[in-house]
Amino acid sequence: MDGTTPRHVAIIMDGNGRWAKARGLPRVEGHKAGAETVRRAMRAAKKFGVRYLTLYAFSVENWSRPPAEVRALMRLLRFTLRRTEKEFHENKVRLRVMGRRSDLPASLDKVLSDMEAATARYDEGQLILCLSYGGRTEIAAAARSLAEDAAAGRLDPATVDEAALASRLYLPDVPDPDLIVRTSGEERLSNFLLWQAAYAEFHFTPVAWPDFGEADFKAALDAYAKRQRRFGGL
Ligand code: IPE
Ligand code: IPE
Ligand code: MG
Repeated sequence: MDGTTPRHVAIIMDGNGRWAKARGLPRVEGHKAGAETVRRAMRAAKKFGVRYLTLYAFSVENWSRPPAEVRALMRLLRFTLRRTEKEFHENKVRLRVMGRRSDLPASLDKVLSDMEAATARYDEGQLILCLSYGGRTEIAAAARSLAEDAAAGRLDPATVDEAALASRLYLPDVPDPDLIVRTSGEERLSNFLLWQAAYAEFHFTPVAWPDFGEADFKAALDAYAKRQRRFGGL
């Protein structure tokens, strides 16, 4: 890996529904095709030397979708994880989850917990799945946890600074994303990594997630390599 390869790429996997609609298929077919793309993206991350790959799979707001679509997505997630498990072991990649865990169906939560435990010691890379994730939810939970400690006398409020808040986020040890990619033409964060995105570079592509291939991943990395990051300095 050279200095121009992002250490951490986070992707807003968008456009499954529109991809399906354009083909006269039900939305869930788009999600199925999108699940295949997840495996492709994992392989691309490994090939190009990206150590952390975060995927926005389901937002807290996505619970407002029709129950049948939500159920299909949860089933598909479980199925895709099982089918991909071998690759985590072969590539020594650690699976991690961020989001409001208690919202997830028990059957999915179990697969996630098992795979997190089985891959916990791998250090060739991390695949971070955002499930029932909301940036505001995450920050509010961090603030609540600080407030609880302060109320219990375990924490001096005067010591609460950026590092203190960051330490209460879901995965405090994971470095901030260097590059955030969103597929399918939308150019918004949709409540993704609000805190962590402070100095991320952005890459938007019109390609729908089910069509996002290795060449599109490479194009995002090439665009990133041309950016000049300044972090407020000169
Ligand atoms: C992304 O595709 C997957 C999820 C948000 C779960 P969408 O389902 O949002 O697809 P569009 O945006 O409606 O095309
Ligand atoms: C963002 O996509 C969430 C995920 C990709 C999981 P949405 O499709 O839910 O976002 P909006 O509604 O277009 O902003
Ligand atoms: Mg969408």
